Amino acid sequence: MKTIFSGIQPSGTLTLGNYLGAMKQFVDLQNENNCYFCIVDEHAITVPQDRLELRKNIRSLAALYIASGIDPNKAVLFIQSEVPAHTELGWMLQTISYIGELERMTQFKDKSSGKEAVSAGLLTYPPLMAADILLYQTDIVPVGDDQKQHLELTRNLAQRFNRKYLEVFKIPEISIPKVGARIMSLQEPTKKMSKSDDNQKASIFMLDTDKQIEKKIKSAVTDSEGIVKYDKENKPGVSNLLNIYSSCSGKSIEELENEYEGKGYGEFKQDTAQAVIDTLRPIRERYEQLIDSKELDEILDQGAENANKAAMKTIRKAKKAMGLGRVRK
Ligand code: TYM
Repeated sequence: MKTIFSGIQPSGTLTLGNYLGAMKQFVDLQNENNCYFCIVDEHAITVPQDRLELRKNIRSLAALYIASGIDPNKAVLFIQSEVPAHTELGWMLQTISYIGELERMTQFKDKSSGKEAVSAGLLTYPPLMAADILLYQTDIVPVGDDQKQHLELTRNLAQRFNRKYLEVFKIPEISIPKVGARIMSLQEPTKKMSKSDDNQKASIFMLDTDKQIEKKIKSAVTDSEGIVKYDKENKPGVSNLLNIYSSCSGKSIEELENEYEGKGYGEFKQDTAQAVIDTLRPIRERYEQLIDSKELDEILDQGAENANKAAMKTIRKAKKAMGLGRVRK
């Protein structure tokens, strides 16, 4: 059995990109693996958050995990800040991280560019992410394409620690889905679909109504060629919709290209919207039942307990390897 770890930030309503790039893979993985899925609230506070809004988003993300098919009997679902080992190991890994390598991270550059004051936490975000993963002796980390660089750094930090101190950490592999790894903005299809896009029409949110989904897909930017064909360079809008349609329906891109040969974008968009609606509607309905339930709290309590147990084993070894604490007499 392999150990799987992944996390999602509770920083606003999740997008279809988060679902297709990450969450959807989680559900398939839980049957045959030892899975940990985390709500990484300590990552979210690296940028300013409203306290009440953050609390709401944490609970909402927990409900979305379950609603999209995470089974608490198969996987451990928990909140990062309820397992203190994450920040402890995060600190320890900061001490072996170089400022230069952290400054080179694309996410840091994007989030800090043009800002007058940037928190130190934004810079030291990647060692905390490495701690999340390494604490569970993770084999595989399923993520979207944008997390590649952070995963590479995680592997480097693990190797550096093992070399410098003792062999404590397993070196994790990244897993990126074949379709859906990078869902693009519906309005600017050369840009990633993101939770924080100012243009509401650019992103589909996991809790959007059927009507909203249909409207957003219909107004998605395409091109004037009228041919449904995958060509990322020259037809980024159509290619993005093909990716979304394929990922939601399970049909291959080739199959879809054949199906829509000689047909215009109208019908193609209508059917893409329907595929997204069919994917998200059941999730939304289950979410409504869960969000105010006690069941959700019980799941998170149990998750924190299990995660704490597993994490403590590694943190003990890591402290010993670094010489922290004392030898009992
Ligand atoms: P976050 O919260 O930004 O995104 C969560 C997951 O969604 C994927 N994703 C996308 N996939 C496809 N298309 C998109 N447009 C899209 N946007 C986001 C992300 O790749 C990610 O898998 N640093 C992480 C959170 C994290 C984490 C971890 C992940 C913290 N610790 C440990 C894995 C393991 C982040 O900001 O993801």
